[in-house]
Amino acid sequence: MSNIRKIGILTSGGDSPGMNAAIRAVVRTGIYHGMEVYGIRRGYQGMIEGDIFRMQTTDVSNIIQRGGTILKTARSKEFMTASGMEKAYTQLAVHGIEGLVLIGGDGTFRGAVAFFDKYTIPAVGMPGTIDKDLAGTDFTIGFDTAVNTAVSAIDKIRDTAEAHDRIFIVELMGRDAGYIALNSGISCGAEDILIPETITDIEEVLCRIDAGERRKKTVQLIVVAEGDDYGGAKEVHESILARFPDLDVRSCVLGHIQRGGSPTYADRVLASRLGHAAVNALRAGTTQVMAGIVNNEVVFTPFDKVVKGSMPISEDMLDMIRVLSV
Ligand code: F6P
Repeated sequence: MSNIRKIGILTSGGDSPGMNAAIRAVVRTGIYHGMEVYGIRRGYQGMIEGDIFRMQTTDVSNIIQRGGTILKTARSKEFMTASGMEKAYTQLAVHGIEGLVLIGGDGTFRGAVAFFDKYTIPAVGMPGTIDKDLAGTDFTIGFDTAVNTAVSAIDKIRDTAEAHDRIFIVELMGRDAGYIALNSGISCGAEDILIPETITDIEEVLCRIDAGERRKKTVQLIVVAEGDDYGGAKEVHESILARFPDLDVRSCVLGHIQRGGSPTYADRVLASRLGHAAVNALRAGTTQVMAGIVNNEVVFTPFDKVVKGSMPISEDMLDMIRVLSV
């Protein structure tokens, strides 16, 4: 067991539903084991500015069901500079923080890799992002909620699309990853799903639309990931109209609605489990790793492997979409 007594916790990058549940788990597990837990506001930026305060178990009461993050979050450009990192390290020393728990996504772990390359302080990460674009975990905190939000929105769009016999394109978030689009599209029975992990051939997309029209489909719903290689909803919309000017086409960019809202039970359990595991990892001296869930077991993956690892989409899923989306 390590003798870390004071730990800091921060949320960084885009917020994701379940971050509050993660904070709650870390604070309560730390205090349970006799640690002092310090909240760092606005991610790495708050670390640079010394925006750090002691947390008690009651500070995390009544937050497990809330979206956003009580610690606030930011994407700090300054942290990626040598002087920013030095300031951040100095502030940790000033506050006597001996260990860190970092909750965030790809940018957070890239920041961690750069920081810990230079400075030594034990740290454990937790995957907090709706994008699910990190290796070392089957799920990230917020992904399940974001997909459920998207599914509920697309179901509503399908109602109006059907009423008007329209083609609808819905653009979903995910940065360079297509997991939100893929899973939402499957769940909503989308006629087509365009994701960055596969090359989008617009001619094939247009052919499928044409075939759908010939079969007198009343709705054709296309889900496109914001990071798709062909473009987003706007580009797909324009291509469809250019080829089929008489079709009634509408598009919708779902946007930040996907980041908000009360976390699903799955995200609350995931966040609680990983928060508990992260503190125990710090205590055990298992550090500079991200806690994730693989095959329903907690696993730890070094920070650099989290950002550089590959997360391929299984072929059977892609085949299934082709079969079911007729
Ligand atoms: O990483 C989460 C995410 O919501 C991405 O899906 C999206 O591309 C990005 O953040 C949007 O960032 P911002 O809120 O800074 O516009």
